[in-house]
Amino acid sequence: EEAGKGEYDHYMKKEIHEQPTSLAQAIEGRIDPENGRIALADFGPGTFADVSSVQFVACGTSYHAALYGSLSLNQAGVHSTALLANEYSVAAPPVDDETLVVAVTQSGETADTLSALRQARANGAYTVTVTNVVGSTAAREADDALFIRAGPEIGVAATKTFSSQAVMLTLLGQRIAADRRGKPPADLESLLPDLAAMPDEIERVLESSDAASIADRYRGSRSYFFIGRGLGYPVALEGALKFKEITYEHAEGFASGELKHGPLALVTSETPVFAVFTGDEDEKTLKNAEEAQTRGAPLIAVCPDDHPAVEIADAHLEIPDTSAALAGLLANVQLQLVSYHAANFLDRPIDKPRNLAKSVTVE
Ligand code: AGP
Repeated sequence: EEAGKGEYDHYMKKEIHEQPTSLAQAIEGRIDPENGRIALADFGPGTFADVSSVQFVACGTSYHAALYGSLSLNQAGVHSTALLANEYSVAAPPVDDETLVVAVTQSGETADTLSALRQARANGAYTVTVTNVVGSTAAREADDALFIRAGPEIGVAATKTFSSQAVMLTLLGQRIAADRRGKPPADLESLLPDLAAMPDEIERVLESSDAASIADRYRGSRSYFFIGRGLGYPVALEGALKFKEITYEHAEGFASGELKHGPLALVTSETPVFAVFTGDEDEKTLKNAEEAQTRGAPLIAVCPDDHPAVEIADAHLEIPDTSAALAGLLANVQLQLVSYHAANFLDRPIDKPRNLAKSVTVE
């Protein structure tokens, strides 16, 4: 197993650095070069024209990718919700044969997600699995499967599979929106070149990131907060999950607008706030971040270089300019690196955090 890490100290670092390749693999052949439409040949000539609503079910990091996909689908005008698979059995929204239920699971073996998938199918929904593992239970049991082609992920912390899932769900969402309207969504034209540039943009982030020095600078803080709005929200949740999972330090992710509804009471000079700016009403997120900064919190802005947040922030994690639909994925790479370096400084067993398993096969 050691040999598989190559030049890296940990699988997690290797897998973070594999993202330019894994994303390129996820996209390959799925955009029709003829007409710039989303091809998703995995579905053959099938159409989503009759889908009236979409429910995503998933757990943990995959749930954050599902939320990303659901929010972007709502932005494209299609009714959708992301649900925690482990809550599905007690309070699933109704389904019918026009409901598409998408199970998002890297391993394809997560018991909670399988049980939600089975329930949805039994109730008459059309089901699709978005997974990394061909031949997995979820891939076999769903009506259709869409493979993210990220390659094996050994580290317990999901990294490259999150970005590939989020991209696949963005593509799926664009395709559903196009099938329903009979024409591609207006913003697809600008999205496609940015999508094609993602592997290079991630490479740029990996090469120039200040994540190690920022992780060092805020070492020993009491708690770490991550905030974002719109597509920045699932990225904030994911940033916090990754941080707590591998550092064992307390971290929380919030929708930026929620800070003032309670969590602000926790904010002090010992609670650094990582603010993710994705172009979804950034001016509001900036105000929320400033409110935390006024209470003494160090503010770390995750945004492009020419963003107004850079002027007031105490530290900056730069991301290249791209479509709002994709900016969160670049921000997520920066946050993965922060968690990795913070855990490394603390000498944590990064690839195998205590009490956790790569695939959770019990409910
Ligand atoms: C996070 O880093 C985890 N590995 C965990 O939250 C994981 O995403 C969750 O258990 C779901 O796993 P799955 O994608 O294999 O279904």
